[in-house]
Amino acid sequence: MTDRRKPLVAGNWKMNKLRHEAVDLALQLRQQYGSTDDVDIVLCPPFPWLLPVGEAIQGSRISLGAQNIHWEKQGAFTGEVSGGMLADAGCRYVIIGHSERRQFFAETNEMVGRKVAAALASGLLPIICVGETWAQRQAGETNALVANQVTAALSGLTEDQVRTLAVAYEPIWAIGTGHSASGDDAQEVAGLIREVVSKVVSAGAASSMRILYGGSVTPQNMPEFISQKDIDGALVGGASLKADSFSGIIEAAMVIAGR
Ligand code: PGA
Repeated sequence: MTDRRKPLVAGNWKMNKLRHEAVDLALQLRQQYGSTDDVDIVLCPPFPWLLPVGEAIQGSRISLGAQNIHWEKQGAFTGEVSGGMLADAGCRYVIIGHSERRQFFAETNEMVGRKVAAALASGLLPIICVGETWAQRQAGETNALVANQVTAALSGLTEDQVRTLAVAYEPIWAIGTGHSASGDDAQEVAGLIREVVSKVVSAGAASSMRILYGGSVTPQNMPEFISQKDIDGALVGGASLKADSFSGIIEAAMVIAGR
């Protein structure tokens, strides 16, 4: 077997938690996993808690991530936050193109591409979200749609840049619904993503980049996803809000990493 990519488990806290709750959760996870080296763990709190959560995990191996970024460096863009600011706040990762951003805030493939380029220019590692609605899946459009989302997100990037990033396959119908995809369905799309990257970037970039699954991931179903050959981790929403459920997901990734 070739070298396995290092598993990545990212918690997307979305618009949840007040400051003390965010810091408490970060401190609990730090106590348990602050020196864990075989899985990359990322916490993505809301913008105002980046600094206090960053402080809570400072000096540990847990990384900080943001949930969004703007593509411009600075200027008159009320309510937006730039890559330089996120890096300065201690972020190492940034989630880009989450389906909630695409659905509720009209983010297009083109905007996602600009955000990815801006993140990389600021030294941040993008976690790019792609995925189809239930209607699109029923209509047999999943593969073409995901291929299109991935191609647009990576356009203009160098091979070395693509090696560093992660793509999260998140079927929209599985997000926050309690109905996850099956391991086989997730693997099929993850395999397709690697094929697309191999074609539009390079085989080397495709085999180095990490592909995550997201959508109702729990400690119970994580083994089914992380054991798939093209799935290297998870982007977790609901189950990342509690230390015990997020820990169960990290533990499942550690089992695979230890093999
Ligand atoms: P969920 O969210 O785990 O609550 O389904 C996943 C996500 O939106 O990234």
